[in-house]
Amino acid sequence: MNKTVLYVAVAVIITALICSATVWYVMRPAPADVLEIYHWWTSGGEKDAIDALVDVFADDYPDTGVIQSPVAGGAGYVMKAVMKSLVLAGEAPDAFQMHAGYEGQPYFEGKYLEPISDLWQEEGWKPVIPDVVEDMVKFDGEYYAVPVNIHRVNVVWYNKHVLDDNGVDPATLTTWDAFFDACDTLVTAGIAHPIALGDIGKWTDTHVLEQIIAGEGIDFYEDWVNGQVTSATDPKLVSALNTFATYLGYVNVDHVTLTWDEAIARVITGDAAFSVMGDWANGEFYKAGKVYDTDYGTIPTPGTGVMYGLCIDCFQHPKGVKHPENSLRWLKVVGSKEGQDAFNPIKGSISARTDSDTTKYGPYQAAAIADFTAATYMYPSVAHGSGAPEAFTAELDDIMSAFVTDKDVSAAASALTAATNAASDDYIKVWDLD
Ligand code: GAL
Repeated sequence: MNKTVLYVAVAVIITALICSATVWYVMRPAPADVLEIYHWWTSGGEKDAIDALVDVFADDYPDTGVIQSPVAGGAGYVMKAVMKSLVLAGEAPDAFQMHAGYEGQPYFEGKYLEPISDLWQEEGWKPVIPDVVEDMVKFDGEYYAVPVNIHRVNVVWYNKHVLDDNGVDPATLTTWDAFFDACDTLVTAGIAHPIALGDIGKWTDTHVLEQIIAGEGIDFYEDWVNGQVTSATDPKLVSALNTFATYLGYVNVDHVTLTWDEAIARVITGDAAFSVMGDWANGEFYKAGKVYDTDYGTIPTPGTGVMYGLCIDCFQHPKGVKHPENSLRWLKVVGSKEGQDAFNPIKGSISARTDSDTTKYGPYQAAAIADFTAATYMYPSVAHGSGAPEAFTAELDDIMSAFVTDKDVSAAASALTAATNAASDDYIKVWDLD
């Protein structure tokens, strides 16, 4: 074959390919019916949990494809900013993960959400969702979101083998002094850094401080979320920061390079004894095949035994979404007993419904359900968007991250109270926690 013939043959083939691709593109079947959701559940346990919830949706609506758009970054520290820009640009997905409480306020005020009170009525959610939770998804008396879980934030996760081997009885760790004594015992036994911390994204620093603040008493916590802790010399604020500084003396030096689940992995392997984290951590132990009360255990963070710190994820019905019907169908599945009982046993949280099938939940959650029912006080997490206005929380992680490096109590107290004072107009909710 001479060169000219070869070139002509190649040109004919390429032209044919282009033509057939164009014909396929023009004639391709219309895209299947879809639902697009955003969330930040990418760690091992969390991914399994959202997949289980999506499976319930897929069973109910087999003709609708689900596009999950996960944005990695614990507590949504990356996704929250992504979502803001999408919503503002009129490109909201059909539903997205959001914390109950203050986190929805800017979307509500900007009129980016549709009220879903009719759906709440039709699905009969009010009688089966605890008042404290239901209240956190309402704005101006209307419902705007559906809770998918109730996470507890004031939890210390421990490696039971490490504590047993060193004669530490977790039941005695009810004060920070007792907790730090136990850390000293472990350090003497050769565990140089008994507390695991992974603060990529900074929010885990805030998470720990928040539980220490709760340990100062519910009245102080209530003042904090109501924007009433306004003096940098407030004795309880200073005390909480001093406790946090002591705590930091026991954490792994490479904490800035770890995510929250990598820190939990150190407790799972026994390289560390403790980690303070919300009960999404249970999903990591579960995924690693560890057995509650044999391999690992939990205690409330010191001083918070009668308290249940709340972190509640929810989904909503944004205005102008591409698939409004699927958005509402998703919310129905999220709020359903079947959906909650598929998602929460894997996630580590308890169901947001009081009529869930508790036999589906493991031993950590059985204890959590009992604690939730018996709790004297509940408090909304600030680290997880619920308790305080965004104008304050936007500053918080940076302040705590600086504190973790410099441990400067008076600088942190000044910065925290300055942030509260600057946001004073935004504290529109009066929490009554006691
Ligand atoms: C929280 C969220 C939990 C879990 C955790 C770690 O803010 O509510 O569901 O995802 O972050 O990413």
